[in-house]
Amino acid sequence: MAFPTQRLRRTRATPALRELVRETKLDRGDLILPLFVRPGRGEKRPIRSMPGQFQLSVDELVKLAREARKAGIPGVILFGIPDKKDARASGAWAKNGIVQRAIRALKDKTPELAVLADLCFCEYTDHGHCGIIRKAKGGFVLDNDATLELAAKTALSQAEAGADVIAPSGMADGQVGAIREALDKGGFSHTPILAYAAKYASAFYGPFREAAESPPKFGDRSTYQMDPANAREALREVALDVEEGADMVMVKPALPYLDVVRAVRERFSLPVAAYNVSGEYAMVKAAAQKGWIDERRVVLEALTSIKRAGADFILTYHAMDAARWLEQG
Ligand code: PBG
Repeated sequence: MAFPTQRLRRTRATPALRELVRETKLDRGDLILPLFVRPGRGEKRPIRSMPGQFQLSVDELVKLAREARKAGIPGVILFGIPDKKDARASGAWAKNGIVQRAIRALKDKTPELAVLADLCFCEYTDHGHCGIIRKAKGGFVLDNDATLELAAKTALSQAEAGADVIAPSGMADGQVGAIREALDKGGFSHTPILAYAAKYASAFYGPFREAAESPPKFGDRSTYQMDPANAREALREVALDVEEGADMVMVKPALPYLDVVRAVRERFSLPVAAYNVSGEYAMVKAAAQKGWIDERRVVLEALTSIKRAGADFILTYHAMDAARWLEQG
């Protein structure tokens, strides 16, 4: 025999053959860029724990959104840092709130870019929790029904401003149903909901809380976000959100939860998103800055893995870099 048997290696021999048999192809159109918007003009404040990411005023946000669209990214998701925070999260649902203003500006200046509005209250409450808080024995509880009322109000204000997608991330039970009902009644039955369906109480959100100035002042989010140890429960979360009217569902974080992405993909037929969160981003950036990893290869491998696990699209702070790298091929 002239050659040893090379059964699986036959189709790996050249770049062209590898391309032919490639099962998962990452595309710029799979990426959503998360952006932080704050009051002011000409503001571009670096976020210390997320190198390359900024808190942007609306004018700067519009500039970056234009670049994102040019780079082939189909959409952005917005997080607001309001002027003032209070117990009722009024900055979240104010007609002229920071996110509402940003949505209007984006739909005016870059109408072809999809604008997803994250809907949560932790950035807007003075205590940093994702809803209305009541004192209870031994601590506090998140008042589910009071929070749903605010969610409905906020969704409507975001849709009125022109949001293409409402993305509730608060993990109050019934939030998708409450938002769907409010949108339908308000004349927005055409506006889709991307539900953060399986959102874990994760330490990987650390840098985001610095970026959004939203760490809880007391306690943690473990009475409303999911226990990282649970996968079957994620399927119940998704099933309920689908029943309540979600059009797309999300798993968050992404890389430590690829098994959950896969399980959701196998059981449901609607689009599945995964959120490659701030801590996942920060780890890659830190190691790359030290010269310990090849950033480009690591990022593209990670994003490809998230797709391979079953995600249709990915929310990622690497979106701009990844889009450029993918264009270069
Ligand atoms: C709001 C929200 C959080 C993230 C997205 N929406 C933070 C949290 O739940 O504490 C985290 C995103 C990231 O880490 O990149 N509830």
